Amino acid sequence: MIRGAITIANQLWWKNAICYQIYPKSFYDSNSDGIGDLKGIITKLDYLKDLGISIIWINPVYKSPMVDNGYDISDYETIHDQYGTMTDLDIFIKEAKKRDIYIIMDMVINHTSDEHPWFVESRAHKDSLKRDWYIWRDPKDDGAPPNNWRSVFGGSAWEYDAETYQYYLHVFSKKQPDLNWENPEVRKAIYKMINFWLNKGIGGFRFDAITFIKKRSDFSDLPTTSPDGLVPIAKASLNQPGILQLLHELKEQTFGNYDVFTVAEAPGVASHERSKFIGEQGVFDVLFEFNHVNIYLREEGKWYEPMPWTLVDFKKAIANSQKIDNMDGWCALFLENHDLPRSVSTFIKNVGPNSAKVLATMYLLLRGTPFIYQGQELGMTNIDFSSITNYDDIATLDQYHLALADGYTPKVALERIGKFSRDNARTPMQWNAGKYAGFSDHEPWLEVNPNYVEINVAQQVADLKSVYHYYRKLIEIRNTNDVILHGDFELLLPDDQTVFAYRRTFNEKTVLVMTNFSEFRRKFHLPVEIKYSKAQLLISNLEFSDDDCIQYLELQPFEARVYELR
Ligand code: GLC
Ligand code: CA
Repeated sequence: MIRGAITIANQLWWKNAICYQIYPKSFYDSNSDGIGDLKGIITKLDYLKDLGISIIWINPVYKSPMVDNGYDISDYETIHDQYGTMTDLDIFIKEAKKRDIYIIMDMVINHTSDEHPWFVESRAHKDSLKRDWYIWRDPKDDGAPPNNWRSVFGGSAWEYDAETYQYYLHVFSKKQPDLNWENPEVRKAIYKMINFWLNKGIGGFRFDAITFIKKRSDFSDLPTTSPDGLVPIAKASLNQPGILQLLHELKEQTFGNYDVFTVAEAPGVASHERSKFIGEQGVFDVLFEFNHVNIYLREEGKWYEPMPWTLVDFKKAIANSQKIDNMDGWCALFLENHDLPRSVSTFIKNVGPNSAKVLATMYLLLRGTPFIYQGQELGMTNIDFSSITNYDDIATLDQYHLALADGYTPKVALERIGKFSRDNARTPMQWNAGKYAGFSDHEPWLEVNPNYVEINVAQQVADLKSVYHYYRKLIEIRNTNDVILHGDFELLLPDDQTVFAYRRTFNEKTVLVMTNFSEFRRKFHLPVEIKYSKAQLLISNLEFSDDDCIQYLELQPFEARVYELR
């Protein structure tokens, strides 16, 4: 089966796609309860079509107690009430398809909710038929948890069950018990469920936290210097030997039999292992790699003690993943998602429309399949909540309490974690300058960013010079220029602290991307063959008319210019 979005022959359809990520809780509320929903998304499909996107990744909409906003699933084959019904979802898939847009579902199979019937049954007795569907261990002699692994959301990764005197393992919250992938019955049940979704005609999956499914074989304590005696589970048990066998089986039994697009959230995969995960010999089409967005994070993952970084580090991280993925397969490009702060607030010093366009130019012309997170196309920014009680996200609350325990004052702790909170990306989509940003006519589940009055869809669609229209234009260039689609990537000026420049080359043609990330005018040198090329301007974010001469290499503050050279 060949998908509609293809424009270039013999090309895998998803290589030519632009993905848009929707966080359903915050996209658009159609029934005035302050929570986004499927019907709401359907009414906005034309907006997305106009933007030029061809795939939607939607965060989990399955039945869930919502302790981690849907990443705690209690029924994989039912839609959560607040989002609508299975009929709404079928309509969503159909309506999207009419517009040549394919839906990829978020597949969370490392864990379920503790309210999933599988876990309820597993927990009921030690001799339950489903006991071994999850990971249960006896306490240590003194009653302590089986080992010193720390869960991603804080505290021990083990939760005690007083009825059966054993602990169960949870990489994430205690409401998200880990499935036991060693058990063939578990795998069979998961494959059956995934095939249920594939048979609905979806465009693929984003596999959540997939490198956690195989646990370390040795469950003994690991050495640590941390005051709480715990070791982050990402250091203890991630991407373990034997995982690829499980993943190949998953592929063979499910998506390998369909023409779908798969992207793996795969922390812990080193660059030399990449070709085993993606590409012809691999499992998935692409994977999310976090080096460039986690540039400020130390290994222990403390948000409140970020690392200093420079544009040179950022450029290196991006260039590195471009290089590796060029060799081993294809890149999933992203700057934002529902777990990250807003990219303009993180990577740009003076946040504003021009600087948002600089970031967009650098980003959208890289090699790979780009993901745009809702609101990124408007240059939506971080929020500045004045109290910890405004935050909803489980990870933010955990980081705040860790900061307090580490001796930070509440004021400093709030300031620090505010910069990295996952809620920065989760505030409601800003549709217009009306009340609640046009997201809902009821008070939203999470506060709207007060800058919605200046940054919103209605205003930007009407203004041809907006960030939104700039995204559209970049997408159009991507969709019609074979150098951007196929071309090799080469970073220029790797050591320059403020200019991010690169070239893409394909069949004797070159595209030159030059962006200035600083508030200063910058003059610089590029290789002579570039300097004396015949150049045609493809896009720029400032008024600029000097179409066919780039000999004079200078960029204004926060200027972006892109040329095609011959
Ligand atoms: C992934 C998701 C994140 C979630 C976690 C647990 O990292 O992106 O939002 O909290 O998995 O499922
Ligand atoms: Ca709603």
